[in-house]
Amino acid sequence: MNVADWKKPFDFDSQYGMGYDFLIRAIMPDYDSLFPTSAGLLSEAVPENGQVLVVGCGTGTELEVFARMRPNWSLTGVDTSPTMISTCREKLAGHPDLCLHEGTLETLAESNPFDGSTSILVMHFIKDDGSKLAFLRQIRSKLRIGAMHIHLDAVAGPGTRGWQTMMRAWKRISLERGLPLDRWESLQAQIDAGLFRVGDARMEELFREAGFTDIQRFWMSIHHIGWLMTAG
Ligand SMILES: C[S@@+](CC[C@H](N)C(=O)[O-])C[C@H]1O[C@@H](n2cnc3c(N)ncnc32)[C@H](O)[C@@H]1O
Repeated sequence: MNVADWKKPFDFDSQYGMGYDFLIRAIMPDYDSLFPTSAGLLSEAVPENGQVLVVGCGTGTELEVFARMRPNWSLTGVDTSPTMISTCREKLAGHPDLCLHEGTLETLAESNPFDGSTSILVMHFIKDDGSKLAFLRQIRSKLRIGAMHIHLDAVAGPGTRGWQTMMRAWKRISLERGLPLDRWESLQAQIDAGLFRVGDARMEELFREAGFTDIQRFWMSIHHIGWLMTAG
């Protein structure tokens, strides 16, 4: 492994993507609990044979859990990374009602509006220079009125003492879960260069501006916050 490469901003088509399934569980201890919870929440808006859009489906963890828990849902996964989507394709092989699209939402073929969507650990890689808002508006445009969107990102902290304590503990937790110290250090360099976190108030402002209502937090783990919301 070339340590210099680990310091480049996140590249899902190189080592970062290949090591993703291990890394995410080391740095996000509650990762696996998120998807059954998301399926339960989405079921408020997605009927038995409904359609769900997974934006940034990555290696397919969400899709795999949704396929198992709600076998009659019709699932569409979108991801810009060929490496991530190819791992996802292998994991979901044989699912009867799955569409995987390599690209962005802009290039996704027109379809009936979706009943629900997720964007989990995706938008924090997008700058808040109009691009986050455009991304959320694209998601909103794919949904029927009343559909539910589940959104989770790392957020910027307020810098309070409590927050600093949590950030220090995050390192300890990650190392205890098997992340090597040099990988923790290179991850911090990647975060500095390629993670565009904004505060939770700004996140909620962006959701409203993109046309979402009933915005409600349902999940928090260290600096990750999860929201559910309705397409208004
Ligand atoms: C950290 S992974 C999260 C994957 C999955 N949602 C999970 O929770 O494990 C982020 C994924 O978003 C993809 N991605 C980044 N920007 C995207 C965009 N604009 N549209 C679709 N996918 C995107 C990346 O290629 C990567 O696979």
